[in-house]
Amino acid sequence: MAPPPDMPAATPLWTAHAILGEGPLWSARQGRIYFVDIRGRRILACGLAGDAPAEWPLEHRPCWLIETAAVDRFVVGFDRGIATLRLVPGQPAEILHRIAWAGAPAEGLRLNDAKADAEGRIYFGTMDDAEQAPAGQFHALAADGSITDLDAGYTVANGPAISPDGRTLYHTDSAARTVYAFDRRHDGSITGKQHHIRFTEADGFPDGMTCDAAGGLWVCHWDGGRVTRFLPDGRRERTIGLPVSRVTSCAFAGPNLDRLVITTAAFERAEEPLAGTLFLAVPGVTGLPAHRSGLAV
Ligand code: BGC
Ligand code: CA
Repeated sequence: MAPPPDMPAATPLWTAHAILGEGPLWSARQGRIYFVDIRGRRILACGLAGDAPAEWPLEHRPCWLIETAAVDRFVVGFDRGIATLRLVPGQPAEILHRIAWAGAPAEGLRLNDAKADAEGRIYFGTMDDAEQAPAGQFHALAADGSITDLDAGYTVANGPAISPDGRTLYHTDSAARTVYAFDRRHDGSITGKQHHIRFTEADGFPDGMTCDAAGGLWVCHWDGGRVTRFLPDGRRERTIGLPVSRVTSCAFAGPNLDRLVITTAAFERAEEPLAGTLFLAVPGVTGLPAHRSGLAV
């Protein structure tokens, strides 16, 4: 799918052939991009020029990863549980500690997407693996390891993102083509769920999201081949086109946080040669540094 000519295009950074690339994370202290390939059961990493690629095959599907205070230790959400992992290039991933969770998703559900807040909490959602039933939920993992339930009724919970002032939390149900906005308190609780953005059929499905430093919300279009920046009032402001349809998630990257790295999926898109590639774009605005989990590792 060629982007319309008026869109600035994203360029391939690493043709990683991810079956379901997701959850890009810029590690400022390492100067590296990390992301997951959920269906490919691996975590990947590379430099800002696609250099020094590394990957860690895993037994279970990794759905997201978040940094911790220790440079080589990450909190990783798997299909049906959360663990801390040590990731060193050239060595197998080492599972350090599994996080106890009485409400872990039942068979047929899995974790999907996550984001950390300034207080070291991780917001994460679950989805119906078959993408049919609204059985997914939304939770928060606090720095003390406790997990609370925040919301329910998602078929595909996706893309949590937090506004620069921390007062608004955006969350999506991709299957419902809707981005919700919540009022967020610093204790992590959320209230006042509102329909914020609705995608049309031509837009595809809203997937991963991130906020920039000016409060713009960047939303990836699964089956829509682009990333759109929305103003805080929900108006569309600019778009970046991609030469693939399944655009899954994005994150600001680079020493000045002025690049946007974008993950994509090759799943069911064998006819698109660049599907599953990690892309880079110059978005024209800067982002915010990714927060870390406060879990003791
Ligand atoms: C999920 C996929 C899903 C897609 C579109 C992604 O975040 O991981 O399984 O198909 O969103 O809903
Ligand atoms: Ca996603």
